[in-house]
Amino acid sequence: MHFVALCMVLSGLLGVTFSKIVVITVGGNTTSNAGLVFSPESVVADLGDTVFFNFTQGNHTVTQSSFASPCIPIHETDSTVNGFDSSFRDAGNGTAITNLPITVIDPNTTVWFFDFNTCGLGGVGGINVNQSSYQTLDGFQVL
Ligand SMILES: *[C@@H]1O[C@H](CO)[C@@H](O)[C@H](O)[C@H]1NC(C)=O
Ligand SMILES: *[C@@H]1O[C@H](CO)[C@@H](O)[C@H](O)[C@H]1NC(C)=O
Ligand SMILES: *[C@@H]1O[C@H](CO)[C@@H](O)[C@H](O)[C@H]1NC(C)=O
Ligand SMILES: *[C@@H]1O[C@H](CO)[C@@H](O)[C@H](O)[C@H]1NC(C)=O
Ligand SMILES: *[C@@H]1O[C@H](CO)[C@@H](O)[C@H](O)[C@H]1NC(C)=O
Ligand SMILES: *[C@@H]1O[C@H](CO)[C@@H](O)[C@H](O)[C@H]1NC(C)=O
Repeated sequence: MHFVALCMVLSGLLGVTFSKIVVITVGGNTTSNAGLVFSPESVVADLGDTVFFNFTQGNHTVTQSSFASPCIPIHETDSTVNGFDSSFRDAGNGTAITNLPITVIDPNTTVWFFDFNTCGLGGVGGINVNQSSYQTLDGFQVL
């Protein structure tokens, strides 16, 4: 049997799936609604997938926080977690697009994040929000 075909059969038998990229656009029209800074605000991603934050407009951050303290970087409330923080990315109006890729290492734990400039207006989001938990995206938003 051809090697590639054999690999495909084996991966089928073992249930191996390939990692994917999930894009969250950072920017958008935050003049009328700061809650639109992350689009979509909530995504589902599997182990090994990449969540790709695409900074396309305005001056924003994507900074990991915690459910209890939505607008505070997680390492300031829990020193055992070294969360991600893009720092300010000024994309202008699409003139300086940058990105921050995050690899999902534990799909069973929700990763919460916010934008420093709009957090108090609802500029937050989550990766793998648990639909059965009281810790909902609405509960995470500071409005
Ligand atoms: C943002 O939305 C507001 C209200 O809907 C609108 O007036 C404004 O033109 C929009 N700005 C952009 C850049 O789309
Ligand atoms: C990021 O946004 C820019 C501008 O909208 C777009 O051209 C690019 O394809 C986006 N990147 C990804 C990975 O979606
Ligand atoms: C982005 O926003 C931060 C905080 O509001 C500010 O300190 C920084 O100067 C801004 N960057 C630019 C390029 O405007
Ligand atoms: C951003 O650029 C787009 C396309 O050139 C334009 O339609 C829009 O009005 C610009 N928005 C702002 C806030 O300058
Ligand atoms: C996530 O939870 C499932 C079901 O309990 C378990 O099989 C899996 O090993 C967990 N994954 C990780 C990365 O902990
Ligand atoms: C989601 O929340 C429910 C209720 O708190 C809990 O029983 C369940 O284990 C959680 N699922 C994951 C994947 O953490």
